[in-house]
Amino acid sequence: MTSRRAFTGGAAVSAAFAAACASPFQSALHPAGPHADRIHSLFIVFTIVVSLVWVAVIGMLVYAVLRGRRREEAALDAHSRRRARNVVAGAVGATVLILIGLLVTDLIAGRDLAAMTDQEPAVTIELIGNQWWWEARYEHVDADRRLTTANELHIPVGVPVLVKLKSHDVIHSLWVPNLNGKQDLIPGYTNVMWLQADSVGEYRGQCAEYCGHQHAHMALPVIVHSASDYAAWMQAQLRPAAEPATEDLRRGRDVFLSSACLMCHTIRGTPAGGRTGPDLTHIGSRRTLAAGTLPNNLQNLARWIANPQHIKPGVRMPVVPLSAGDRDAVARYLESLR
Ligand code: CUA
Repeated sequence: MTSRRAFTGGAAVSAAFAAACASPFQSALHPAGPHADRIHSLFIVFTIVVSLVWVAVIGMLVYAVLRGRRREEAALDAHSRRRARNVVAGAVGATVLILIGLLVTDLIAGRDLAAMTDQEPAVTIELIGNQWWWEARYEHVDADRRLTTANELHIPVGVPVLVKLKSHDVIHSLWVPNLNGKQDLIPGYTNVMWLQADSVGEYRGQCAEYCGHQHAHMALPVIVHSASDYAAWMQAQLRPAAEPATEDLRRGRDVFLSSACLMCHTIRGTPAGGRTGPDLTHIGSRRTLAAGTLPNNLQNLARWIANPQHIKPGVRMPVVPLSAGDRDAVARYLESLR
């Protein structure tokens, strides 16, 4: 029985590990764009150099211990004192040279990364950090092609995307390890980050600065599309919310619009225009709920509306008292907003 339980435990761990690996890629060791690639080569140089230093130091230590034991009784004569002094001086010199070498390599990488920012962005996105979700505003010269969405970034492949980083409350930090290094989102100040992906795919970003209770539940999937898919995605997102097609969906919309929901959320095409929480116009098209906390499906939507504080304690979304029937109708309506 015990061994069987141990086996199931092991299987659960491997299943969880497999699931973690199957989830959107999040690894600085698998660069998927020019910025991350440059940082990755710097990482490789540092890793090789410090590994060699570590091996050399441990080697010297082992040698000294073995040799010291053999010569325990022998007193240090003038000759060995001079030799020891030379070894120490050599080690100090090598350390200084290695540190200068690493500093120069680092500066060159910084210069290369800075040179990559000297270009016209294909897409500019304002990304705003909130406790604990992300608002993404896609800029455009035409006001009717500006888009506000939340908790996901969609970018076209192979072109530079400029992300302007801002915060509404505390300091957050954006890190999409496959695409670039970290950058802070600071209240009252705009930082910038460039994202560029070499191939179509999905990468996981995460808030990388402790920002309160739910810092760990502040993920940001980055979805990289082909140029035509990106245009289609943008076109679909710019549309106002679909009119409810059935009586049940109409009920869901009416409950949403007659409860406190509309105080905080926007659904374009309806009177709901709240700005405190994420825009829900196309929430049904998103992968996750509550900034990566839950997979987005009907059951989780209903659970989330029923008691967000249970799923993400401390979250700013209050419990809106609804009957089970009304709540499920709202969940079905939101799920239909593709
Ligand atoms: Cu936002 Cu940590």
